[in-house]
Amino acid sequence: MPGTVVRPVENTIKFDIRVADLLAGLGYCLAPGAAYDLGPTLRRIWGSDRPTMVSATLRSGFDLYLQALELPPGSEVLISAITHPDMVAIVRAQGFVPVPVDVDPATMAPDPAALRRAITPRAQVLVVAQLFGGHFDLADVLAVCRQHGLHLIEDCAQTYGGGYRGHPQADISLFSFGPLKTGTALGGAVMAVRDPAVHHRMTAIQAAYPVLPRREFAKRLAKYALLRAISNDARKLGLLFAVLTGLGRDPGAEIRAWTRSLTGAFALSRFRSQLSTPQVRLLARRLAERGATWVSRRRTVGDRLAERLAGSERPGVQVRDHLHWLFPVMVGDPAMTIERLLTGGWLALPGLSNLDTFDPPPDRPEQSPHTARHILARVLILPMHPTMTDADLAGMAAVVTADTAPIAVAPLPANGK
Ligand SMILES: Cc1ncc(COP(=O)(O)O)c(C=O)c1O
Repeated sequence: MPGTVVRPVENTIKFDIRVADLLAGLGYCLAPGAAYDLGPTLRRIWGSDRPTMVSATLRSGFDLYLQALELPPGSEVLISAITHPDMVAIVRAQGFVPVPVDVDPATMAPDPAALRRAITPRAQVLVVAQLFGGHFDLADVLAVCRQHGLHLIEDCAQTYGGGYRGHPQADISLFSFGPLKTGTALGGAVMAVRDPAVHHRMTAIQAAYPVLPRREFAKRLAKYALLRAISNDARKLGLLFAVLTGLGRDPGAEIRAWTRSLTGAFALSRFRSQLSTPQVRLLARRLAERGATWVSRRRTVGDRLAERLAGSERPGVQVRDHLHWLFPVMVGDPAMTIERLLTGGWLALPGLSNLDTFDPPPDRPEQSPHTARHILARVLILPMHPTMTDADLAGMAAVVTADTAPIAVAPLPANGK
C-alpha cells in the first residue's frame, strides 16, 4: 500500500500487564523454585473469614465448586442471564440444568420477579455475575437464597482492581486473572469459599489434576507479549488493521479470537488442570501490587466518557465502584454506529465481548430472558482505556449519541418469544 496513510485504531482490548511482569514471568519459567505458598498473600487481600484457594481459570474454580457440592443429577442451577457461555456449558456437562434468570439492566442483578419464578424444588444453586467492573449489593439475592436453601455463587471475573473482594456471605466469590482482566497474570483465578468442608473437597479434587506444563506458560507469555505490543498501541494496531482488511479478513473478530486464553471445542477436561509454579509466582507478583494506577486512570477516563454519554443508556449504569472494565452502551443500529466509529479510528465491538445469554429448558418458557436478549441485540462496547484523550471521548460520544436506543425492553410480542 505505498503512499497509504495508516490511521491509528483504538481498541477495546488492552492488556493490563507491564513488560517487567512478562519478563518476571519468563524468569519464573526458567527458575521456578519450590512450590510457592500463596496463602499469606490471599489472606492479606481477601481476609481470613472465608478460606481462599487458586485455580487455573475462574471456569475451573466454578467446575470444582459444582463438583464439591455433590448435587443430585438433574439439579437446577439458576444463572443470571448475561454470563460467560462456558459457565452454562459447565453446568450442562456436569449433568445439571441451567435456568436463566433475567437481569435488571441498571445493575445486572437478577430481576427479583424472574428469580422468584425460577425457583422450583429442584433448584440448588444461583450464579450471579458482577459485570463491567462494578458490583451490585447482594443483600436481596442472599435473602432469597437463604429462604430457599440455594447456594450463592458470585462470579467477580470483571470486578478485581477496586476494593471489592466479594460479599462475605456468598457461598463462593470467584475472581479471574485471565489475559484481559485487571491486574492479569495471564491466567489463574482466586476463590473465597464460605464452607470450609466444601473448600476442603475442592482442594482435594484439584490436587489430582495435572499441573500445566511450564513450557506452555512460557509460550503463553510470548504470545501475549506480542498481542500486548500491538493491541496497546493504536498506531501498531492501525497497521495490523490495514493489513488484515487488505487480506479481506474481519480485523475485530480476528484480534478477539487471538486473545482467547483457551481455544478449541468445549470439554470439561480443558478446565481440569492446576497452575504451575511460575504461574502462581506471577499471580503473587500481580496481587502484591499497590496503587493500581491503570485502574484509577481508567476509572477517571470512564467517568468522563459516561458524562459525555449522559443522553445514552448504558447497561450497568448503577453498579457500585464502577471501574469501567467494559464500557457498554445501547444504540439503535450497532452495525452502522460501529462503522461510523471506525471512521474516527475507534474499534467498537457489537455485543458484550465474550458474554452471552442462553435459552431456558423447553418446559420453562416463562424464564425466557427478554431483557438480556434486548440488551445483547442493541449494545456495543466502546474502546476505553487510560490513555485515551478528551478528543477521543468527545468524538466517540458525538457518534454514539446520534444513535441512542432505550434499554427498557420492548413489549413482548403476542407469541411470547
Ligand atoms: C463474567 C465472566 N465469567 C467468567 C469468565 C471466565 O474467566 P476465566 O477465563 O478465568 O475462566 C469471564 C471471562 O471473561 C467473565 O467475564
